[in-house]
This record gives sequence, C-alpha cells and structure tokens, in this order.
Amino acid sequence: MTTTGNPYIPHLATVEETWYETGGERCIKTFKVVFDEEKVREAWSHRPGQCAMIGVLGEGESMISISCSPTEGKFLRFSVMRMGKVTQALHQLEAGDKMMVRGPYGNSFPIEDWQGKQILTIGGGIGQAPLRPIVEFVKANRDKYAGLTMIYGARTSGDLCFKGEFEEMSKSDDLSCHLTIDVEEEEWEHNVGFVPQMLLDLNPSPENTIAITCGPPIMIRFVLENLKKLGFEDEQIYTTLENRMKCGIGKCGRCNAGNMYVCKDGPVFCYAVLKDIPEAFA
Ligand SMILES: Cc1cc2nc3c(=O)[nH]c(=O)nc-3n(C[C@H](O)[C@H](O)[C@H](O)COP(=O)(O)OP(=O)(O)OC[C@H]3O[C@@H](n4cnc5c(N)ncnc54)[C@H](O)[C@@H]3O)c2cc1C
Ligand code: FES
Repeated sequence: MTTTGNPYIPHLATVEETWYETGGERCIKTFKVVFDEEKVREAWSHRPGQCAMIGVLGEGESMISISCSPTEGKFLRFSVMRMGKVTQALHQLEAGDKMMVRGPYGNSFPIEDWQGKQILTIGGGIGQAPLRPIVEFVKANRDKYAGLTMIYGARTSGDLCFKGEFEEMSKSDDLSCHLTIDVEEEEWEHNVGFVPQMLLDLNPSPENTIAITCGPPIMIRFVLENLKKLGFEDEQIYTTLENRMKCGIGKCGRCNAGNMYVCKDGPVFCYAVLKDIPEAFA
C-alpha cells in the first residue's frame, strides 16, 4: 500500500537524469526522478520488487518496476523499454521534464527473511530491472547475506542493461556476476548461450540459497525447470509476473492470474504458490 496518501493520486516528479541502457527500436532508457514536493519525498518508501505507475500528462501511464533500492537514496529509477504510446511519450522526457508517479504498488521480495542466505538472481533482458534493487540492497547490507550470485543474459551485448555496474561486482569475493548472450560476438569475453543453460552449467548449490528469476516468460519457464533439476525446493524460488495492468490497485480485474490480481497479490510470487496457476507463464 502507498505511503503517500490516496493511492490513486499521481505525484509530480522531475526527471533529474536520463541515459540509454540499450539501443534499437525497442531501446531501454533509464530515468532518475525526484518528487517535487518535499512531503511526498519524505513520505515515500518502497521495497525491492515494487512498481509504480508512471506517465506523461495527456498521454497515459504504464506500470514500471522501480529499478533502484531504497538504500540508494531519495530518488527513484525506472528503466523503460520503448513499446507503444505511453512508453514512447516517456522516452521523449529529458532532464528537467516532469513525470507523473503514483504508487508504490504491489507486494515485494521478502528480502529481510532471506538474511543469512546466499542470494541467486537470474535475469533476462529488461527482467533485470526488478532484480537490480535486490542486488543493490544486498550490496548495501553485505554482512547480512551469505553471498550474492547474479546470472544475467540478453540476446546481444547491446541488449544488456546496467552494464557499467557489473565490473565492480566481478572484483568482489562474495559477489559474483555471470553474463551471457545468445550468440557469439567479437570481443565478447563472457559466456555465450541461453540463461537457463548457463544456470545448469554453473550448478549452484541449493543449500541455504534463495533463487529469484525475472525475464521473458519462456526464459522463466526453463529457469524454473532447471532450478528444480538442481534440487531447489519450491519455497526457495521467487519470480515476478508482468500481466498487463490498468488500475494497479486491484479494482479493474485486468491483471488476474488464476484467482489472484497480479497488481495487488504480486508482482512477486513464490513458486510454491505460482506452480498451481497454469496460465501464469502462458
Ligand atoms: C508489474 C509490471 C512491471 C513492469 N515493469 C516494467 C519495466 O520495468 N520496464 C518496462 O519497460 N516495462 C515494464 N512493464 C511493462 C510495461 O508496463 C508495458 O510495456 C507498457 O505499459 C507498455 O505501454 P505502452 O503504452 O508503451 O504500450 P502499448 O501501446 O500498451 O503496447 C505496446 C505493445 O506492448 C505490448 N505490451 C504492453 N504491456 C505489456 C505487458 N505488460 N506485457 C507484455 N506485453 C505488453 C502490447 O501488447 C503491444 O504489443 C511492466 C509491467 C508490469 C505489469
Ligand atoms: S490492474 Fe486493475 S485489478 Fe490489477
């Protein structure tokens, strides 16, 4: 539930900085935004895994994952893929422009319950956006977690988000980062192959480990299958669903999976719950 009063009310925020994560027709642009009103800035709190409805006046709004951890400061980050009307309008915004933000919405990753455990994130493409807050949260609370392993893949090296942030991780002893792309490229020094196969090849131990996966539904399906092959229990596996949404607060019925509203009961789900909903990854 929102901490900023009526959850329907959008708040005005200023875009502080923007940059492109990826190029091409469906390019991904990241926006760092700050609420205009101090009382909103102070009242706002979000948790890793939550989303917000962001929009441009007169164009509409889209549900987008908050791609920063609350440990990073009093700003929000959104990484938006250019898809249709709203995301094209969002992509026009530059530093100094205004954006509407309402939220935060949805449940979140139970990250405090995972203290003392190894955290394994497995992401694909823009699916790294909801995983990034976990990575940043664990990095900011290193003494509370046994370690962090990140597996991240995309079609090409140009389709990987947050590239600059991985180098630092690779240098650390208890944080490790494994990158993969679908097909060979000149000068690519990391793995080539699909994310689910890389997971199998790395063969992480399920002991005292929580695995979280986000990405295209097909990738999630095979990752889940492979986590089970590696011996992970359903309760050790989490993912997010990104069903299309309208209201974002459990009123319009647009986003249901089984008898659940993804906007209200999700977007974070433990596999122990999700495995009984056949349409979840349809
Ligand atoms: C919980 C959640 C978190 C999300 N996080 C992000 C994020 O961090 N970054 C990001 O770029 N996008 C994210 N999305 C998807 C984003 O909300 C949609 O891509 C966006 O609303 C498209 O709006 P549009 O008006 O530009 O496109 P539209 O004109 O509405 O659609 C353009 C095309 O995209 C397809 N599309 C639209 N929404 C979805 C969807 N949810 N799933 C699959 N296909 C869709 C349409 O079928 C159409 O083909 C998230 C969605 C949800 C539900
Ligand atoms: S988006 Fe309206 S009920 Fe979920």
